[in-house]
Amino acid sequence: VDQVDVVVEQPEGLPTIEWVDGAVVALDQRRLPREEVLLRLSTVDELIDAVQTLAVRGAPVLGVAGAFGVALAAHTISDPDELRSAVERVALARPTAVNLAWGARRAAAKLPAGPAAVLAEAQEVLAEDARRNLAASSRAADILQRLCAGHESTAEGQVGGQLRIMTHCNAGRLAASGRGTSLGAVRELADRGAVELVIATETRPLLQGARLTAWELRQSGIPYRVCTDGAAPALISRGMVDCVIVGADRIAANGDTANKIGTYSLALAAHRQGIPFVVVAPESTVDDDLATGDGIVIEERSGTEVTSILGMPVAPDGSLGLNPAFDVTPAELITAVATERRDLLAEHRATARR
Ligand code: MRU
Repeated sequence: VDQVDVVVEQPEGLPTIEWVDGAVVALDQRRLPREEVLLRLSTVDELIDAVQTLAVRGAPVLGVAGAFGVALAAHTISDPDELRSAVERVALARPTAVNLAWGARRAAAKLPAGPAAVLAEAQEVLAEDARRNLAASSRAADILQRLCAGHESTAEGQVGGQLRIMTHCNAGRLAASGRGTSLGAVRELADRGAVELVIATETRPLLQGARLTAWELRQSGIPYRVCTDGAAPALISRGMVDCVIVGADRIAANGDTANKIGTYSLALAAHRQGIPFVVVAPESTVDDDLATGDGIVIEERSGTEVTSILGMPVAPDGSLGLNPAFDVTPAELITAVATERRDLLAEHRATARR
């Protein structure tokens, strides 16, 4: 993959992914927070490599990457069979986040109208994503303030009206256009003066929480601490967390939610503690073809991501890792699923009652 040696001076103002002069330009998330470097992806293979190595990641941004990947194919491939196969390769580059195939197929529907129409559709996917995430995250902020209202006077150590919020992985602007989804809600709550502290789980094996969420929170000036994944349920059980908020990679029609590995243990702990566990995602993350989460394909990544940290081996030579990248949290452990249009879970529960 080509690398443009641009040091980003105002990363907060720089889009995570955009189309520039016939190529996709994206912030290389593998190198954050140490280095802020832009990648220039000018072929389908380069884009797929960036997606598979998590240079470009997070479900909503994968939707945009899928659409831009098809735009790249339309601009660089003329043979119809090769073009069809490139679209499939982009759509299937990672299996769990439904947004990737959704974005690719949306752009591919414009192929008969030519490359310019495909690119226009991809740009629309990008613009829409920011609007949708803003609406979804503001709904999630409203829901959390409502759900936590009664806790303010009782939760030990909680400053009046301010929340101690736990997040997992990274669902900020690096993962979703605009301000992100769950981190977008945190930003919204901070603007309302309602955040005391964010606890970001480190998110092994690839450390999206410690590297990316902390990077975003630091830029936003929101107080935060990073904890190990293993500490998170214990912190919840000790009454140090008022609510948990996460993004999603795929949400089944009944609200079962696939998200970064480790989400399920946070949901179990939140349920046991009786604190809200809220999912926030754009509607493009909802897979209406799946009645429940049972059919969600979980990406299995290389075991070496587990037996090493940031490329440095930590387990004895020859140790094999086991590395499911996502887990599925059953709807019964989730308090609300906020999208730009509704609380999916409230809607589903109301329908089920009828
Ligand atoms: O493997 P990743 O880093 O792409 O996983 C990302 C997550 O699990 C996010 O929580 C999810 O995509 C939501 S992003 C708004």
